[in-house]
Amino acid sequence: MLENKNSIVIGSDHAAYPLKEKIKTYLIECGMKIEDVGTCSEESVDYTDFGARVAVLVSAGKFQRGILLCGTGIGMSMVANRFPRVRAALCSDLFTAIMSRRHNNSNILVMGGRVIGEALALEMVKAWLETAFEGGRHQLRIEKFDRIDQTGLGKEFLKSL
Ligand code: RB5
Repeated sequence: MLENKNSIVIGSDHAAYPLKEKIKTYLIECGMKIEDVGTCSEESVDYTDFGARVAVLVSAGKFQRGILLCGTGIGMSMVANRFPRVRAALCSDLFTAIMSRRHNNSNILVMGGRVIGEALALEMVKAWLETAFEGGRHQLRIEKFDRIDQTGLGKEFLKSL
């Protein structure tokens, strides 16, 4: 069974709408509460708009975890990672989905509906929800970029050139 995270926000564009529906059905069967921010059909939309909806909710702490889907997952991950406190991980296999939790404490799982099949996507969602963050040295690394404005990450290097 999936552990404590019993509420999750999900969004996709048209390219991954069918996969979003499959994932929703699976999560509801697992007893989870789903907030679906769209899109609601295969009619063409901008992934940007739906990526922002999920990212803003996670960024604001309204949801601990989110799932974003588009054709490749690339656009969604680019959008989501612009939002403070969002750590969106574009994953295409089980290993990266698990490691994004263990080492990166990813709070949004991003997948490409034109990249991976339904069975693998469901397996990845399950593993991603069940895998805990390891903390320790990984926490320190995350803090460096989660507070990038304060840490000035990279600035010393730029000055040294
Ligand atoms: C839509 O055609 C496609 O560009 C989108 O789903 C996504 O792959 C963008 O990164």
